[in-house]
This record gives sequence, C-alpha cells and structure tokens, in this order.
Amino acid sequence: MIDIRTPCLALQDKFGEAPELAIVLGSGLGLLAESVEGARMVPYTEVAGWPMSTVAGHAGELVVGRLAGRRVAVMRGRWHLYEGYDAAQITIGVRSLARWGVKSLVLTNAAGGISGAFRPGDLMLITDQINMTGTSPLSGTPAFIDMSNAYDVPYRLAAIGAAQESGVDLKPGVYAGVAGPQYETVAEVRMLAAVGADAVGMSTVLEVIAARHAGMRVLGLSCITNLAAGGAHLGSPVAQVDHAEVLRIGREAGAKFSTLVRAILPTLKP
Ligand code: HPA
Repeated sequence: MIDIRTPCLALQDKFGEAPELAIVLGSGLGLLAESVEGARMVPYTEVAGWPMSTVAGHAGELVVGRLAGRRVAVMRGRWHLYEGYDAAQITIGVRSLARWGVKSLVLTNAAGGISGAFRPGDLMLITDQINMTGTSPLSGTPAFIDMSNAYDVPYRLAAIGAAQESGVDLKPGVYAGVAGPQYETVAEVRMLAAVGADAVGMSTVLEVIAARHAGMRVLGLSCITNLAAGGAHLGSPVAQVDHAEVLRIGREAGAKFSTLVRAILPTLKP
C-alpha cells in the first residue's frame, strides 16, 4: 500500500490547515487556477511522495487560495494510467487531500461525446460512471464500498441550480473511464454507447472510487472537447480525433467552464 502520510504531512507543512474543498482540473481547463485569490502554488514535485506528472497540458501544481468565497485546493494536473502509473499511484493526490482533511471534491475532465445530445464545447454533469479501466485503487484491500451514489445527489442538484442561474447549459450524462492513451475505435464507441455511456475519457473514475472510499463527497463535470471517434457512430463524415483539437476546444470552453464552477462552489456544503 502506498504511503499517504508523507504527502499529507507535506501539505500540512506547506499550506497549514486543509480547505474544505478541492478541485481537480482536466486537460485544457487550467484557466480556473489563475483566478484563485491569494494563491500559494506548490509544484507536485515538491510534495514528498507524489509522482511527477509528464503529459503536455498537465502543469502539475497545487494551488491553494480563495475562489468564489471558498478556500480551495486546486490540483492543476493529475496522473493517468497511460503515463504508466497504477491505480494506487494515480489516486495518491486525492487520497492525500482526504487525509489532510478535504471533505468535498470537484473532479473535472475533458471527454469525448458519445450521446448524440453533445457537441464539442458542451459541458456535462456526471451523474454516474462506468469504470472500463479494468483496475481499481482499492485492489488488494477488502474495501467493498457502496458506489450506488458515487456522485453526490445534493451536489448534482446544486450544480443544476447554479448552471441555470448563471445561464450555462449543463447536460447530465454517464461518464465511461478507459485506460487510453489511444482514442477509441468506432466499434469501442458503439460498445460504450450500448452499455449506457454518454461520454468517454481517460481519468476521473479511479479518483472517484478513492474519494468515496475516503468518505469525500464528489461532484464531476466534463467538458466535451470532441465527439468520440470523431462521431463516426453517429454518421459523421469527419471521423477522427485530434489531440491538439481536444486541448483547443477545452481552452475555448474554459471561460464558460470557469463561470460554472464559480457559481457552483458557494453552494457545495461540506
Ligand atoms: N476519448 C477518450 N478520452 C478523451 C476523449 C475521447 O474522445 N476526448 C477527450 N478525452
């Protein structure tokens, strides 16, 4: 089992008392970290016991300060299976935050739209997940935790209300988490659609499992950066996915996304 006491002590040492809330920012969604007031930033490399983040578009720094009136910890960058880490390593950040004392977790990501309801640039409220990675951060422990309400229902209602009030369109959907790094084949997208997924991405599901195991309340938001497999399963003629395009749409949706998160934060009770 990975040691989380060391990173937890590092967080205490660098930032003092834990904030109630933490946010994990997905690819291209880093903008929000820049609007944290009174920010103190620490690169992941300076948190003893945290793995180094490697992929372009993931800066890998923890920002602690105030956002929308709440004291928050913002993880700018996360770890992925496709970087070669295992499920326990990927979730070390979330587990250290929980041990530090963070009670609520907002997970964000970029995802490919599967449901015909989504267009690139849309925002999705994650209502549930399908873990297609074939692994679990709880592997090796007899942790038979309940996952039937993994995404907190009062938080989902709060997010829907905040979206309406701020005029941001937020559509609900089920997120399927895969290992990547390759994007999906058309047949894989058809399979994911058949099992009930509305969007697909390469993060979040393992973090949610670790967060629920640690007793955190979870909210999940996806930015639909592209149609999965280019929308071939929906009959799109431009059936391919371009990583640069995924990052570009993520950045373009960044302002709308930041507005939404700022509107949601004050409504999330510990
Ligand atoms: N598939 C998987 N992960 C993703 C995608 C996708 O189409 N877009 C952004 N992240």
